[in-house]
Amino acid sequence: MEKEKIWKGMIEKDPDSAAEKFTSSILTDKKLYAQDIIGSAAYAVGLKSIGIITSAELGIILSGLKTVKALIEKGEIDFTAYEDIHSLVEYELLKIAGEPAAKIHTGRSRNDQIVTDELLYMKESIADTALKTIKLLKIISEKAYIYRGLVMPAYTHMQKAQPVLVSHYLLSFFEKFSRGMGRLFENFEACDCLPLGSAACTGSGYKIDTGLIKKVLKFGKTSSNSMDTVGGREYIIEYLFGLSMLMINLSRFCEDLIIFNTQEFSFIEIDDAFCTGSSIMPQKKNPDILELVRGKSAVVIGNLFSVMALFKGLPSTYNSDMQEDKKLLFNAESQTKECIDIFSRLLANIVFNEKVIMQSIKSGFLEATDAADYLVRKGESFRNAHHIIGRVVRHCIENNLSLGEMQTVKLKQYSKYFDNDFYRAIQMESCINAKTAVGGTAQKNVDSKLKESLKVIDDYEARLKSLFERIPDFELIVSEYI
Ligand code: ARG
Repeated sequence: MEKEKIWKGMIEKDPDSAAEKFTSSILTDKKLYAQDIIGSAAYAVGLKSIGIITSAELGIILSGLKTVKALIEKGEIDFTAYEDIHSLVEYELLKIAGEPAAKIHTGRSRNDQIVTDELLYMKESIADTALKTIKLLKIISEKAYIYRGLVMPAYTHMQKAQPVLVSHYLLSFFEKFSRGMGRLFENFEACDCLPLGSAACTGSGYKIDTGLIKKVLKFGKTSSNSMDTVGGREYIIEYLFGLSMLMINLSRFCEDLIIFNTQEFSFIEIDDAFCTGSSIMPQKKNPDILELVRGKSAVVIGNLFSVMALFKGLPSTYNSDMQEDKKLLFNAESQTKECIDIFSRLLANIVFNEKVIMQSIKSGFLEATDAADYLVRKGESFRNAHHIIGRVVRHCIENNLSLGEMQTVKLKQYSKYFDNDFYRAIQMESCINAKTAVGGTAQKNVDSKLKESLKVIDDYEARLKSLFERIPDFELIVSEYI
């Protein structure tokens, strides 16, 4: 550990080594080194503007921080020698910059510093997750385009229900991940408030130029209440909810694909490069990636629950319990990003077995609802039509027939409304194209959704670009203020 704690003074005894190890957070928060450095640089700019440090001292601090960053990136700093990332940056800076570095914590606390680090980190993480989600949306849209026109069974209760376009099925996940994008944009906004100036809990005793620091760090707002700021982590809970929702939807997609990949279904072919074999059964080709994504979704959801539980009983302002939030955040965001990436690669290489799917839609009376709708259009009430078709289907099952194989004369025994145009009405194509209500699977609806998906993607890309522009750049700050 560092020779001297930044909090030495009142506490005389050297820390017990187990206590020191237990309270240390460096192995987790070292991930925030770049944010701690950029936050410190901006804070120094703020200190200079209120005369706590001189221009010359600011120059020394900024170039010192640049050196600290370079040393960390070259692996030349022993992280384990420090309690946390804040003391590491301050002490390493002190070694390089001397006295001016000792002024950098004026009116600042690790309590507002850690929130600053987290918010800056989260902005990057959210933008990165959004970038990956857009890539996934593109792949979904491309796949949906490739299989334009292919009809498959839709299932409810895992029973064959009605015919649907494969594109419509795929675009249902476009909608889910599109809402995921909406949440990510909101998550980003929740991180757009500068915490510096809040200090330990009641606000800084110096007239910190938060307007200037906000500008340097590209935050949109400044904190309105110091107690709220140092004691709040809603932005993490909300982001973890956003990530959990992405994972829940990925997991459901995986579950569908696992089922579609079974020998019993054989609707899809997963590329060999994304499958694994069995150590004992030579014939096996397992969809492990899909299973792992499904499994990891449980971990991310667990992290959301953990972080919520972490806060429910905390008294106001900072408590050390909060130190645990970072492990949960880092773990959830890295697992989610990895899952989106690998799932996207797997999805891009999936092939739908058109022959098997086309064979599958022949059984299961997928057109039964449309047969009832046919009678309704002729004048029958829907409830009667439902009963009539139910009886016809039972007759078909008992006689091993399909609906289309029923003779008109026989059908007329069930309802006078049956006629020769019935056969056309229950063709798969007719069933699909009858679903013209908004959000239905009619080919023209799906085609316009496909087109719209490209515009949605363009819009997300433009919005994401503007998010990246709201993430500060250390080199630019140094060059502007040195
Ligand atoms: N390591 C702390 C955390 O991760 C930040 C410092 C908190 N301040 C304190 N007085 N211990 O939340």
